[in-house]
Amino acid sequence: MQQNLHPKIIKELEKIVGSDYLFLDEETRNHYGHDETEDYVFPPNVVLKPANSKEVSEIIKVANTHKIPVTPIGARTGLSGGALSIHQGIGLAMDRFNKILEIDERNLQVSVEPAVITQVLREAVAEKGLFYPPDPSSQGSCWIGGNVAENAGGARAVKYGVTKDYVLNLEIVLPTGEIIWTGANTLKNSTGYNFTQLLVGSEGTLGVITKIVLKLIPAVSHNILLLVPFYKASQACEAVSAIFRAGIIPSALEFMERDAIDWSLKFIDGLNIQIKDEVQAHLLIEVDGNYPDILFQEAEKITSVLEQYEIDEILFADTDDQKNALWKMRRNVAEAVKANSIYKEEDTVVPRYELPKLLEGIKIIGKKYGFQSVCYGHAGDGNLHVNIIKGTMSNENWNTEVTKGIREIFELTVSLKGTLSGEHGIGYVQKNYMNIAFTKTHLELMERIKSVFDPNNILNPGKIFPDVE
Ligand code: LAC
Ligand code: ZN
Repeated sequence: MQQNLHPKIIKELEKIVGSDYLFLDEETRNHYGHDETEDYVFPPNVVLKPANSKEVSEIIKVANTHKIPVTPIGARTGLSGGALSIHQGIGLAMDRFNKILEIDERNLQVSVEPAVITQVLREAVAEKGLFYPPDPSSQGSCWIGGNVAENAGGARAVKYGVTKDYVLNLEIVLPTGEIIWTGANTLKNSTGYNFTQLLVGSEGTLGVITKIVLKLIPAVSHNILLLVPFYKASQACEAVSAIFRAGIIPSALEFMERDAIDWSLKFIDGLNIQIKDEVQAHLLIEVDGNYPDILFQEAEKITSVLEQYEIDEILFADTDDQKNALWKMRRNVAEAVKANSIYKEEDTVVPRYELPKLLEGIKIIGKKYGFQSVCYGHAGDGNLHVNIIKGTMSNENWNTEVTKGIREIFELTVSLKGTLSGEHGIGYVQKNYMNIAFTKTHLELMERIKSVFDPNNILNPGKIFPDVE
């Protein structure tokens, strides 16, 4: 692939974006060369900040003519390396696409550009009495465009669904430069192939997202939040499916192993949550709705389900401050782990009843290959984030034994009828495990789709597809 860009090409690109929005300096290239995935840095040769879809299209046409890799870059909060410029080339920083274009209150929809921070979008629609449920833990810094590219989830997905469930229509620039809308701004659509949903979760490999139309729902006024300490982590996992089988759909059902909570509490100042030494894990459970009486009944039903397990006293968050403190603790787990040790994060997902088997298996595999893991995540979705901690492990074991262990974790996941990633994507770091979830036939089909969209393989190369099949 392309190493350095010819000065003539740089001139062509400069003509499109203007000299103020073309960056060749090392600092900018490094800044856009990493995301939140481990400590990887892959700087592009040049960073461009286009102003609109037309400029993106013109850049892509130049890149396609000269076969230059283009990596779309968002807020760089991703955990699978989707925004890394593995093969250098052009880093397409979408920073200037930062407007909410229209909140359509009549249709309960919002049109938005990709570089709007997810939380800013959620708050803007909330002011109009509307609700955009997907809430990745990084919602305060991630962008909606990256959420669409990775099909992000979050804690509320268990009741409200993930990003894909809200994407109605996308404006994209194809890897050959044409600008198209993928579908229609309708709630239903059975008109031809569903390009919109093919693009969601395609990790910047099929098109550059330049506008997004999202479905909204009416705001929900009340919630109840409980923190439940379990003496046995396996029982916390068992309780998850029991809650649904009792007829409740919580608006969040999160699992945290002991270390996840301890590290998060150490990482953030000012949270005063006391946990007994014997407690191994917690569930954070929320129910929401517009009728407080019904919510109390649901919370009671949940507590009666929990009576069959060995739990300590349940903490009911009474005030907004207490609720915010509990959510802060949960949302900071990933960063707290990162601050503690070099780590690798896997995003396993299984049908929720299989969660206890998954957790148990992960611990057995950890013992076999000599690594510690800290698990937490969206238990209601069967989505367990597995943080593998380097700690004092030698570099050699980290690179060989852990890779074998991760492969075994994914094999276990797939044997439980689950898959490799629930919400973080495959990107750069999980691509060589794809042959666990897919056969050669699947992978070739995906490659053929990729080449129909991107015949010269210029858009985000080096992602999703394994190096060797
Ligand atoms: C979370 C992110 C890491 O659940 O997905 O905190
Ligand atoms: Zn998550």
